[in-house]
Amino acid sequence: MKKNRKVTMEHQQSYKSPRLEIRNYLTDSFSNEMSKDIFTGLTADQKFIPSKYFYDERGSILYKQICKLPEYYQTCTELSILEDASAVFMEPFESGDLVELGSGANWKICKLIDAAKEPQGENMRYVPVDVSESALVAASVDLINKYQKLEILGIVADYTRHMNVIPSDFSRLIIFLGSSIGNFSEEASQIFLRTIANSMTPGDRFLIGLDMIKQKTVLEAAYNDSQGVTSEFNKNVLHVINRELNADFDVSAFDHVAFYKEEKEQVEIHLQANQRTSVEIKDLNLSVPIEEGETIHTEICRKFSKGSAIKMFSEAGLSVEQWFTDPKGWFSLVELVKSRV
Ligand SMILES: C[S@@+](CC[C@H](N)C(=O)[O-])C[C@H]1O[C@@H](n2cnc3c(N)ncnc32)[C@H](O)[C@@H]1O
Repeated sequence: MKKNRKVTMEHQQSYKSPRLEIRNYLTDSFSNEMSKDIFTGLTADQKFIPSKYFYDERGSILYKQICKLPEYYQTCTELSILEDASAVFMEPFESGDLVELGSGANWKICKLIDAAKEPQGENMRYVPVDVSESALVAASVDLINKYQKLEILGIVADYTRHMNVIPSDFSRLIIFLGSSIGNFSEEASQIFLRTIANSMTPGDRFLIGLDMIKQKTVLEAAYNDSQGVTSEFNKNVLHVINRELNADFDVSAFDHVAFYKEEKEQVEIHLQANQRTSVEIKDLNLSVPIEEGETIHTEICRKFSKGSAIKMFSEAGLSVEQWFTDPKGWFSLVELVKSRV
């Protein structure tokens, strides 16, 4: 393993024990960022709220419930591919960091740790990165108890802004699952993937999960589940803003709307006002009227073909090493390395 490098950006140490350290880089800057984002989003012609604000403690719990819904094929399909491919991914892994971006719950990473040559997470440091401190701490404590030799450095941070605080002193397997890349616009995904590619050194590998284009009915069912959990998850962002920015959104005045836009190859998720309403956000000194039928756009989930994904990777300076999929071709796990120039 390479020598430990000091990370210089300021962070708050929220937890430290012999095998587990949690560093929080979100402290004050996150609420400033949120204020700016919400002001910009709610004063735009098409109102929007960035999807990273879904994930407070309740949002993370709701997302875990979504992963278990019968209509939400993504998680079980990606897990089944991991089940088959983990041994192949972990074969070259001798020692180093498993860096998981947007780590959330820990059920996927366990497949990779279990497939490593050394048992109990020996010679491996797991570095989960997530905006949700509660989800990150819960998953990390679980893993420390499950694997007796595993070390964890948990980083509470925004991966669109804080990639520079992720240590790169050991060789790394970077992991970005759940097709979270689909939540970025085309332009934002280029910036994000390029940042990752630029941070990679020879020997580093990058494993990414992609949700593939499929029938509209399957896609729309996945985001409109019959138990209404996705609807609760979507509306939760209004509770987050009410709490964090001293606002008074009437959550019952909004309906969850999700549909697949074929021409853009993306599912769009909105909150649609079912009556004329308004919100006062005291911390922003902002009052916003919202007409009946008007929507607040909360998320995109882009879907990929093999061709569109390879184009996206190569434009960001990444080359495909291995490509795994399930029998229906609904989901893909792709191993990438930095392209040679
Ligand atoms: C769709 S969930 C995927 C979770 C997990 N990777 C999986 O595949 O099941 C997205 C995760 O990324 C986190 N997240 C969302 N936006 C983020 C951001 N900008 N920076 C860091 N984490 C983020 C959320 O808290 C959540 O845990």
